[in-house]
Amino acid sequence: MQGQGTLFKTEPKYNTFNIENRRYIGNKAKLSDWIMYLINNEIKEKLNSFADIFAGTASVTKASLKYFDKIITNDFLHSNNVIYKAFFENSGWNRKKLNEIIDNFNKLETNILQENYFSINFGGKFYHQNTARKIGYIRNEIERLKSELTEKEYNILLTSLIYTIDKIANTVGHFDAYRKIKIKEPKFELKLIEPFKTDKVQIFKADANQLVRKIKTDVAYIDPPYNSRQYSRFYHLYETLVKWEKPKLYGVALKPEPENVSEYCKVNAKNVFRDLIENLDAKYIAVSYNNTFNPKSNSSKNKISLEQIENILNKKGKTRVFENSYRFFNAGNTEFNNHKELLFITKVSE
Ligand SMILES: C[S@@+](CC[C@H](N)C(=O)[O-])C[C@H]1O[C@@H](n2cnc3c(N)ncnc32)[C@H](O)[C@@H]1O
Repeated sequence: MQGQGTLFKTEPKYNTFNIENRRYIGNKAKLSDWIMYLINNEIKEKLNSFADIFAGTASVTKASLKYFDKIITNDFLHSNNVIYKAFFENSGWNRKKLNEIIDNFNKLETNILQENYFSINFGGKFYHQNTARKIGYIRNEIERLKSELTEKEYNILLTSLIYTIDKIANTVGHFDAYRKIKIKEPKFELKLIEPFKTDKVQIFKADANQLVRKIKTDVAYIDPPYNSRQYSRFYHLYETLVKWEKPKLYGVALKPEPENVSEYCKVNAKNVFRDLIENLDAKYIAVSYNNTFNPKSNSSKNKISLEQIENILNKKGKTRVFENSYRFFNAGNTEFNNHKELLFITKVSE
């Protein structure tokens, strides 16, 4: 039909990323409604504050926005902190300005870009060489533009870059290893994330056991790692990308020197968990726990047993446990495991 082209040729249409559009081991995106339902159902009194102490993707923080007035969200990873600031911080940013910046990035011809820190280290491994060159170039440009951006805009651009490259990584969903295949060059299209309009969320980047000594909350949600897999090692590429200090990287997976190594992934896990619960100043505590039966590898074995969790929580107050069973696809060994997700809710004794 004649004229239709001009009629509809106004602003280009942008679609955006939501907070759960990300691959992250142990994320509770599919369980967050169930978790919130149980918390609301179990706790009859009106409560105002909620703290997501091991927030990961912050999918539970997101679900809590509907029910609580004051929310704390915390994780010790640098990349998660940038993501929380981008999605939740209540400060100024200009969508049109950021769309113009990413439009220019999307027009880049990869074959004229020079090799850079990102492409030299990760090209041909976690990303196609051309894609890696583009990612490194964009990361350098975001840093160069920093003085012209508000802090919120800077964090939105970094987070949008993470969400975009998460989709095209040559991995099974984390950066402990890459797939040994010939990588096809994917379509690279940077998209913005969709931040929340909220002033409810206070953001921390702290070790959980240090944090609980400083905060007070009505409901604390606890979802630590339970096996030996360190999140800082699995998502090292995002840590390197966000910090952009360009350190020397080691090993086949090109990891930096260890940082933010979690005690929850070590033999001492039970004691740090006990210390956390003892020092929590909360009226209610909700703890997620999952049980993957017959794990194939030692690294998947839980460091804290169900009984240990129960004993520690029972000392703090009356505890009830809820169960959600579902079929779970384990990307590592292409097999369906029986996966049980539990939620403990403790009413802390006066
Ligand atoms: C199972 S994941 C949380 C998943 C999250 N509930 C979600 O829905 O995405 C555990 C998180 O705890 C963080 N973590 C591990 N040890 C920590 C510590 N000592 N202090 C703070 N965060 C820690 C990890 O970085 C990881 O993001």
